[in-house]
Amino acid sequence: MARRKKVYEGKAKILYEGPEPGTLVQYFKDDATAFNAEKRDVIEGKGVLNNRLSEYFMTGLNAIGVPTHFLKRLNMREQLIRAVEIVPLEVIVRNYAAGTIAKRLGLEEGTALPRPIVEFCLKDDALGDPLVAEEHIMAFGWASQQDLDDMVAIALRVNDFLSGVMYGVGIRLADFKIEIGRVYENDFQRLILADEISPDSCRLWDIETGQKLDKDVFRRDLGNLTDAYTEVARRLGVLPSNATPITKPTLIN
Ligand code: CDP
Repeated sequence: MARRKKVYEGKAKILYEGPEPGTLVQYFKDDATAFNAEKRDVIEGKGVLNNRLSEYFMTGLNAIGVPTHFLKRLNMREQLIRAVEIVPLEVIVRNYAAGTIAKRLGLEEGTALPRPIVEFCLKDDALGDPLVAEEHIMAFGWASQQDLDDMVAIALRVNDFLSGVMYGVGIRLADFKIEIGRVYENDFQRLILADEISPDSCRLWDIETGQKLDKDVFRRDLGNLTDAYTEVARRLGVLPSNATPITKPTLIN
């Protein structure tokens, strides 16, 4: 069998050439990195959990009309996706203060923000993904005004969906990061949700106890990361070992 071609390798995922033009295979690694890859480790099982969780969120988003790159899950660690041209911006949505906004504005972690706040950071590891204003984005041509409007609209829809899904299982969505890709259809281009949605790129807090169920467990050495992600997957009913259908009929007597 011919060895498939690696198109790109990032910190947590690898992209391979897909079976058809315009498709890619996204492989989820077990590698965890934080603080711009200064802290790194291999967390057994993380890739499997993120593959399942990202499938779950992207499928739900597709179902409510938010366009995503997700086509189908192939196996425990891989999913088939549409090839996109990634917009070089990280789109962050925040509902509660944490991380860099808490530091930057002197807010206590956990403070409810007056409304969801959308921020853009330039995707550039060497520069530490700096926060950029719309003014920079337009001046340097990273995205157009129309792109920005579309990205904010997608980000806010993802926020409403994810906040609701998480709230339903007793989890507060404090913030998250998404990436957006461009696809070309004839003479037109449109923007779709790309990359992944997983506890690697969200802040998830148990509503009752405040327990962190996201990558902060790794960043701050708060315990076992796989346990935290497994708890999220368990509550959502998408555990990787879920070979038996969730709706398995129960025999009474
Ligand atoms: O995560 P950190 O404190 O460095 O930065 P942040 O700006 O507070 O991150 C906001 C949200 O975006 C968190 O849920 C991060 O996990 C996520 N994020 C990410 O997934 N990748 C990045 N390069 C930066 C932030």
